[in-house]
Amino acid sequence: MKVLVIGGGAREHALCRSLSQDPAVTELHCAPGNAGIAQVATVHPVDQLDGAEVTALARRLAADLVVIGPEAPLVAGVAEPLRAASFPVFGPSAEAARLEGSKAFAKDVMAGAGVPTARSYVCTTAEEAAKALDAFGAPYVVKDDGLAAGKGVVVTSDRAAALAHAASCGQVVIEEYLDGPEVSLFAITDGTTVLPLVPAQDFKRALDGDEGPNTGGMGAYSPLPWAPEGLVEEVLRTVLQPTVDELRHRGTPFSGLLYAGLALTSRGTRVIEFNARFGDPETQVVLARLRTPLAGVLLAAAQGTLAELEPLRWDEGAAVTVVIASEGYPAAPRTGDPIEGLAEAEADGSVHVLHAGTRADEDGRVLSAGGRVLSVTATGRDLAEARTRAYQGVGRITLKGAHHRTDIALKAAQQ
Ligand code: AMP
Ligand code: GLY
Repeated sequence: MKVLVIGGGAREHALCRSLSQDPAVTELHCAPGNAGIAQVATVHPVDQLDGAEVTALARRLAADLVVIGPEAPLVAGVAEPLRAASFPVFGPSAEAARLEGSKAFAKDVMAGAGVPTARSYVCTTAEEAAKALDAFGAPYVVKDDGLAAGKGVVVTSDRAAALAHAASCGQVVIEEYLDGPEVSLFAITDGTTVLPLVPAQDFKRALDGDEGPNTGGMGAYSPLPWAPEGLVEEVLRTVLQPTVDELRHRGTPFSGLLYAGLALTSRGTRVIEFNARFGDPETQVVLARLRTPLAGVLLAAAQGTLAELEPLRWDEGAAVTVVIASEGYPAAPRTGDPIEGLAEAEADGSVHVLHAGTRADEDGRVLSAGGRVLSVTATGRDLAEARTRAYQGVGRITLKGAHHRTDIALKAAQQ
């Protein structure tokens, strides 16, 4: 099977790594990729938002499966010309990807499907925003309606700051504050059958102890030893299946990866957000635990035959990933600095370094090229072992001014 992956972050590196280990995959391509992906796939410098260019590449490669990683090409509708040209595509249509692209649309789908989520108002004016903030009280939650790379949400007890964020966004969703731990649960779906993966937890804040600004994600781990028994079955029944059914009934079936960001509140499980693609950095730990070869699963989703698949097999152990971010991330990331120690970090075979924002220079040196630069992932018999190994890997890498959290999976590993 010839597989083409669209994207160029740590999530796509994780996908390419898994696909490269699948004996069914005879050729692996990625566009645009990055310096790390280039080690496991042939990379192609195409504009991932240009559906015609991506389709031309798929044609040239005679791809048997195209996997679209990031939200931007999905929301831009890159899946459509590919499907029109008869390529099996893993990833939803632009219409279905609105589940991620518009928070207001996601709320509407959840209301239609009876999916539990925070009560909310869609607001476009300062007056509406003020009214909504006062209706819920502090802490305030204000979300940019559109895509914002994980930075569109402000949670604050400062009413003026909440109002200022609303004013800077245009249309916002203002919602009640959800307490309780967060869980990311991914499901692969063909629009009818829904196959949940194993739950993971992401660390969204930049600094230890969940301090500092929101980021795209600073680390993740799986499994969640503290999660209630039956959580996956409950979320499948109350969230994932009803959402997939609702979108199918609306005539916009969702096929690809449905990501439920959940809060386990004192009043029950609530959806914080949906995404229309694999999450980053959770994918790094979820795929590190997947034993079933990946290509066949993604192809079955693309072809509508998930119901015929054997149950997924998982490693009983644990995986932890720690993100190394560049100086100044998330506000003003510095790029262009050399990265050393990549091979040394992988000396222990249970550690692999996934590239997020990197590029190779003319001499083949790897340079930082984004805010989140690397995602150092390790497996182990349990979280404590995976965590120790991941941080050993992190310790072997040097990048000027870089920072990472030191408490990824710490609490969970102590349980
Ligand atoms: P989102 O982009 O919707 O996932 O939001 C980013 C982060 O903001 C989430 O992971 C939560 O930590 C936080 N957040 C979002 N919505 C809420 C809410 N209703 N209550 C509390 N925290 C929230
Ligand atoms: N881990 C957060 C996200 O992928 O949106």
